[in-house]
Amino acid sequence: MLAPVAFRTAVRSKAAPSAVGSLFVSARQFKSTWAHVQGGPPDPILGVTEAFKRDQDPRKINLGVGAYRDENGKPYVLPSVRKAEELIVGAKGDKEYLPITGLADFTKNAAILAYGKDSAPVKENRIAITQSISGTGALRIGGAFLQRHYPDAKTIYLPTPSWGNHTPIFRDSGLEVKQYRYYDKKTVGLDFQGMLDDIKAAPAKSIILLHACAHNPTGVDPTQEQWKQISDVLKEKEHFPFFDMAYQGFASGDIDRDAFAVRYFVEQGHQIALSQSFAKNMGLYGERVGAFSLVTANPDEKARVDSQIKIIVRPMYSNPPVHGAKIAGSILADQALYQQWLGEVKGMADRINGMRSTLKNLLVNDLNSKLNWDHITNQIGMFAFLGISPEQVAKLCNEHHVYLTGDGRISVAGITNHNVQHLAESLHKVTSA
Ligand SMILES: Cc1ncc(COP(=O)(O)O)c(C=O)c1O
Repeated sequence: MLAPVAFRTAVRSKAAPSAVGSLFVSARQFKSTWAHVQGGPPDPILGVTEAFKRDQDPRKINLGVGAYRDENGKPYVLPSVRKAEELIVGAKGDKEYLPITGLADFTKNAAILAYGKDSAPVKENRIAITQSISGTGALRIGGAFLQRHYPDAKTIYLPTPSWGNHTPIFRDSGLEVKQYRYYDKKTVGLDFQGMLDDIKAAPAKSIILLHACAHNPTGVDPTQEQWKQISDVLKEKEHFPFFDMAYQGFASGDIDRDAFAVRYFVEQGHQIALSQSFAKNMGLYGERVGAFSLVTANPDEKARVDSQIKIIVRPMYSNPPVHGAKIAGSILADQALYQQWLGEVKGMADRINGMRSTLKNLLVNDLNSKLNWDHITNQIGMFAFLGISPEQVAKLCNEHHVYLTGDGRISVAGITNHNVQHLAESLHKVTSA
């Protein structure tokens, strides 16, 4: 083991150029190429899971991770996904490479799911779309495309707060990242005026990142009326909307309702960019299935944009994985499977919303909390932003074995009938102390 180390040192060391002598340089003198690398901060969400795993208390609850759990707190594979997998295995297909932009049968139907089958750009074949490594990959391709081809200032504005990965994704894509107001601590709701003011104040033709539904981490979404005003302001300022839709169907249980903002903006003539993820709504987390799309003016422009998307994707990962796209593609293409899936998405959303009501009822009616917990049921999607302090979060973790992120966000998908009582009591204790 020592010889290769000594040999490398010999090659690199100016002080010991003699190959023969250097072979005997001791391991103690070896200085690693990576000695200067500083340890980075741990991922905050994975840190929560680590702390949860170390805890031996049987009452412990992990509400940190953003993945759906069934009523027994177990990971859930959708029956429609199982069926699609059986069909795929039964078809004994090959394992050939996909094209650079992925499985066309999947991306065609992913576009219809998001934009709607009657949408003008779908009908007129002017949506440039590529399969992506789930939502994260879609955002990364989008960031890279805008960095190269967006003709105006390459600054993207994110809501405060936003999903923690947005800033690094867009910064690594070469965009400048700025913020607009979004969440109002006082009301635990939307700071709509602050949002509009900041978007108006941004230089014309800025890029504005919008969570299409089920805003992560706050669970606070604009109403349909507010979306219309947001669209007007973006139009007035000629801003460019980039929608992140990671939760279509998961928010309300209705895929059309959750796509309202995306479809309304397109109807209004915005040439949007869109990131889609099938991690949550199909439970395909580890399969990494997503899509990135851009609305273009006509099929010719679409073809040119497609060619540039390929130029971005090819050196990054060449072409996307096939299995998950076949699953999502089969579900979207087969009417029976599609209907079954719609029911399953609704089932997940309903269970989450049911848990919101149960938690609020326990706090307000059983435990007589004097605080207002309406935001738990007003918020939507996988997460609830409790509006509690970092000290209260620490108490929940350290004294009550309830694990959540430091900003007071809980994954409602992790609450079950078995653990909701302990959660409500713990929350009541730390907020009434
Ligand atoms: C707002 C938002 N965007 C994008 C993603 C991307 O997730 P994935 O890459 O797993 O599809 C997530 C996942 O939590 C998210 O919450």
